[in-house]
Amino acid sequence: MRRLIHGGVEGAAIDLSTNLNPLGPPPELEEALMRCLREGVHRRYPDPGMEGLKEAIKSFYRLSDWVIPVAGAAEGLMLLLTALRPARVITLSPTFGEHEVEGACSVLGCSVKHVIMEEGGEVFRPDVQALAESLGPGDLGLLSSPNNPTGAYVRYEGVVDAAEALPEGAVIVLDTAYSELGPGFPVAGGVPPSLIILHSLTKSLAVPGLRAGFIYTTSGAVAEAVDSVRQPWNIPSLTQCAVTEALGGGWLRDYLRASASYVSWARDVMGSRLRRAGYKVFRSSANFILLKHPWITARELFLRARRGGIGVRPAHTFAGLGEHYTRVAVGLPWEIEAVVRFLESEAPD
Ligand SMILES: Cc1ncc(COP(=O)(O)O)c(C=O)c1O
Repeated sequence: MRRLIHGGVEGAAIDLSTNLNPLGPPPELEEALMRCLREGVHRRYPDPGMEGLKEAIKSFYRLSDWVIPVAGAAEGLMLLLTALRPARVITLSPTFGEHEVEGACSVLGCSVKHVIMEEGGEVFRPDVQALAESLGPGDLGLLSSPNNPTGAYVRYEGVVDAAEALPEGAVIVLDTAYSELGPGFPVAGGVPPSLIILHSLTKSLAVPGLRAGFIYTTSGAVAEAVDSVRQPWNIPSLTQCAVTEALGGGWLRDYLRASASYVSWARDVMGSRLRRAGYKVFRSSANFILLKHPWITARELFLRARRGGIGVRPAHTFAGLGEHYTRVAVGLPWEIEAVVRFLESEAPD
């Protein structure tokens, strides 16, 4: 059976191993789900054309051209690999999706290469230029901004410039799953056809079970290729119904703004206490922080945390990270207090 290497610690009373919005799902979205359920939308096949959902996404994110709803960024990535059949996939690593890409490429016949971000000071420097320069015709470059697990943010204009200079047939996929809990959804104005945006609502709405996200492209050929490999009912009717309503609800922008503002405050509080305790805390633009702790391995720290009912994410499974990195999500104040106290107790005197 396929083993998933992701966050989520069973039995943890405080689980900061997954990177969901600490404020939880918006109540309006849960009410919309209940309404959709009462209307019995789950008794019907989902709309395969998804016109209502597509229009709601375009209007909320101010996009034109092609939007293809996907069952989370994870499905979006698989659809892109299957549709575009890249010769090579080059990731700006460490990043989310490395394991999934390697699994898929072993079947699809692509090779996988990692351009490793350089660790310097309190940042992992995302070198988009190096990623772009390594891409040949027919290659696919993958990066996320803010990045998981480092929290590093890449200026959107820099990604556009890099994509514009790519050789014919190469594309960059920019995963923006954490953008709305940090600097904001970046896309404004022209997106070159060689840049594909992969966005997810999982993290910003704290709804991993709904499987909601989308691919945005200005290339008709990419949109057609993705649609041709997408199974017609990839987004369940309950998800389509509730997410369409949420995107048109008028309250969502305020909810996301309040979430990002809480995250920024709480991340600073966590970061400064952990820095004082002796951890190296990487600068993050997302709702989690990456820690370096040379005195203890990530595995050992994870086991000790779990014994205390706390979930953290050992980060040694990401390409380019050694044995001494752990990712911790921003939680609610009482969760932060418990996790920080635990981490302080594990720091050298
Ligand atoms: C950068 C990034 N993109 C996407 C995802 C997964 O999103 P989804 O639930 O939409 O598949 C994750 C999950 O950890 C992630 O870190």
